[in-house]
Amino acid sequence: MISTNDIRRSFLDYFASEGHTKVPSAPLVPQNDPTLMFVNAGMVPFKNVFTGAEKRDYSTATSAQKCVRAGGKHNDLDNVGYTARHHTFFEMLGNFSFGDYFKDRAIELSWNLLTKEWGIDPDRLLVTIYHDDDQAAEIWKRVAGLPDDRIIRIATSDNFWSMGDDGPCGPCSEIFYDHGPEIPGGPPGSPDEDGDRFIEIWNLVFMQYVQEGGKIVGDLPKPSIDTGMGLERIAALLQGKHDNYDTDTFRTLIEESAMLTGTSADGEHKASHRVIADHLRSSGFLVADGVLPANEGRGYVLRRIMRRAMRHAHLLGAKEPLMHRMVPSLVAEMGNAYPELVRAQALIEATLLQEEARFRQTLDKGLKLLDEATADMAKGDTLPGETAFKLYDTYGFPYDLTEDALRSQGLSVDRAGFDAAMAEQKRAARAAWKGSGEQASDEIWFDIADEAGSTEFIGYTGTEGEGQVVAIVKNKARVDSAKAGDEVVVLTNQTPFYGESGGQVGDAGTIGNDGGLRAVVSDTSKPLGRLHAHHARVETGEIKVGDTVHLAIDVDRRDRIRANHSATHLLHAALRNRLGEHVTQKGSLVAPDRFRFDFSHPSALSAEDIAAIEAEVNAQIRHNDEVTTRLMTPDDAIAAGAMALFGEKYGDEVRVLSMGAATEKSYSVELCGGTHVRALGDIALFKIVSESAVSSGVRRIEALTGEAARQWLNAREDRLREAAATLKATPEDVPARVASLIEDRRKLERELAEAKKALALGGGGGQAAGPEDVAGVKFVGQVLDGLDPKALRGAIDEQKNRVGSGVVALVAVNDGRASVAVGVTDDLTGTHNAVDLVRAGVEALGGKGGGGRPDMAQGGGPDGAKGEAALDAIRDTLAKAKAAA
Ligand code: SER
Repeated sequence: MISTNDIRRSFLDYFASEGHTKVPSAPLVPQNDPTLMFVNAGMVPFKNVFTGAEKRDYSTATSAQKCVRAGGKHNDLDNVGYTARHHTFFEMLGNFSFGDYFKDRAIELSWNLLTKEWGIDPDRLLVTIYHDDDQAAEIWKRVAGLPDDRIIRIATSDNFWSMGDDGPCGPCSEIFYDHGPEIPGGPPGSPDEDGDRFIEIWNLVFMQYVQEGGKIVGDLPKPSIDTGMGLERIAALLQGKHDNYDTDTFRTLIEESAMLTGTSADGEHKASHRVIADHLRSSGFLVADGVLPANEGRGYVLRRIMRRAMRHAHLLGAKEPLMHRMVPSLVAEMGNAYPELVRAQALIEATLLQEEARFRQTLDKGLKLLDEATADMAKGDTLPGETAFKLYDTYGFPYDLTEDALRSQGLSVDRAGFDAAMAEQKRAARAAWKGSGEQASDEIWFDIADEAGSTEFIGYTGTEGEGQVVAIVKNKARVDSAKAGDEVVVLTNQTPFYGESGGQVGDAGTIGNDGGLRAVVSDTSKPLGRLHAHHARVETGEIKVGDTVHLAIDVDRRDRIRANHSATHLLHAALRNRLGEHVTQKGSLVAPDRFRFDFSHPSALSAEDIAAIEAEVNAQIRHNDEVTTRLMTPDDAIAAGAMALFGEKYGDEVRVLSMGAATEKSYSVELCGGTHVRALGDIALFKIVSESAVSSGVRRIEALTGEAARQWLNAREDRLREAAATLKATPEDVPARVASLIEDRRKLERELAEAKKALALGGGGGQAAGPEDVAGVKFVGQVLDGLDPKALRGAIDEQKNRVGSGVVALVAVNDGRASVAVGVTDDLTGTHNAVDLVRAGVEALGGKGGGGRPDMAQGGGPDGAKGEAALDAIRDTLAKAKAAA
């Protein structure tokens, strides 16, 4: 039996041998269409290649494309489990011609693959064509030899394929397989065509036209081909099965589910096993492509899928979370073809476990409530919408899960009642909103959020993408359009632009389209915490509500922000390691050019602390471990050791960022909604540039990373080089040279003081003031500019020795201040007291006091210009004392 993996390979190899380029599957989240929830057909990633808007270096291609049809316009979720061919996740095999071959070769290639390569009996095949496509009919006759009664003309849109309202489209031809008369059902176009006998296996679309708003507006540049074949269907056919769920891949997963729950794979629990197998595939692939469970948007579709499967696991009697245990089987089955599944295996397991553990907390109670509410109901009855809403709001039952739970009893749900209860809750939330204080603008944001829902942030994984404009705000009022020169706020249904929050600044970048629009986004804010508001200036062209626009963030700027944000986490961990567990984050600002981090700590950090913290953070960076993100409840995250900010309000779910080498737990584990580097090496370099106090008990570190850190260090080095050049030394010798210069300077200052004193006192060749006679006592009085006051005592002693008997008064003037000292030779201390004399001098200098012993006293005053007056005052006092004696 040929395996599903071999069928995929054989399809791709066949078209490769026919000159087609093998193109890997695009991610499930559409890169080029904001109106699509998920990629739901093989041609989606090629949409712009068909229209000519995008060029590739091949004109024919083949792919096996991952598709999800759940949520959005194509939603098969409700049917999965109960039919043979519905899936939320499936693979579409396709071959494409972008203006290369057209109908002839497309039909020929498909016929040869089916009947020659794969040996399918040609008599069991029949085709449909669009009713007026005579050309296709003629080719089928010629190439396949099909008689007219097996070329069925269909006039409806079933045989005119378009991706949506906008894009390439054209008539199509579907190939059907007849499973034989023992199975009920009629050929396509017949009244009982919905039976299971004739199964469509391949759709060949003859792309020719371009649609806008559901109307054909022109031709494609060249006629093209898009074909799509569900791998699961062709696998069933080639494996001799009638039911997709009986093929090898599904069978492996179903048997695993049966084994793990101790139930039989095919009995009464058949539907549950199918749901689990199918939903495991979609959940695993969605997580691998960056979608995580959430309460809105794509994440909510994922949550609905997961929880639907989890209820079925519960029905099977699983006492513990089940889904995550099946991931290894999924990876073993499909990881070869889709390596992203292998890479994300740990994340898929953790996400499923987390979601199931969490949902199980309320699942039992919710089901009990449901049992009570339906106890008296009979087949055909309707569950009140309010009950469904309570199950949704309190017990985490997505609406379709409740529907699914009631299905087996033939009960339905009052959708209108559910919607009304939901609308009422939104109204109450709005009434309770305290808001930013700006009533008018808060009202606008609420209106927009009510109409369009929260903005879906697609910037954790990408840096650009398409978005649909849902609102434009100009001067605090909503407008329909904006043109060149306008300053506006643009809201889109999804965006890669991060809105300022959690200390991380908003993204900047551009909004544009093919019609000449170019708007420059200088900042992105996050009103209501769930809208991403692009603050933009329209440079050229026009932007209108409803437009599809291309949103591109400034990647270099974001990369710098990422590096800085991840560095704050490492810094936080390093601070706690070095300073202690009391260190907690008190605030932060993460900008492209720098970051600052405020934390609780009582005192300044020493130079050793700073050096050690820098070294530790840089060691983590060099280790270059991957940064991983998981989604958890805040309680689980904190229990797992994540650092959370005290007093911060967290939602139901938090992103948990783990960084750095793990021993017991990773070096840093924090709750954070910001954007981060993929691996720590992306930070490149970490440098603390300042450490200061913010308030009592709170310190602030400012730091740089990457190129900014390098430039800062370079600038420092330049200063060092300049200093070295001035000193005529090498940079290495600068510290020693500066130390020796300082020593030289001290020595010179000392020598200069000595020289001044000597000069002032007549030493060294200068003339000292000669003793004068004051009332019969020899008196030496002199003002000495620049004499060090510390040298006064020595100078007084020298002069006392010189005169033998007498009084010496010296005033040293420095920087406008004066110090005065008076000495009295021992023989005169009986009649003259140095203390009295000096006090007279001090007073004249505008000072107070002065003291010492009768033979030597000292003091000072602020009025350095009064030196001579001080000496006169001392002369007077001396004369008076003599007279009194
Ligand atoms: N686009 C077509 C489909 O989805 C054929 O690939 O059926």
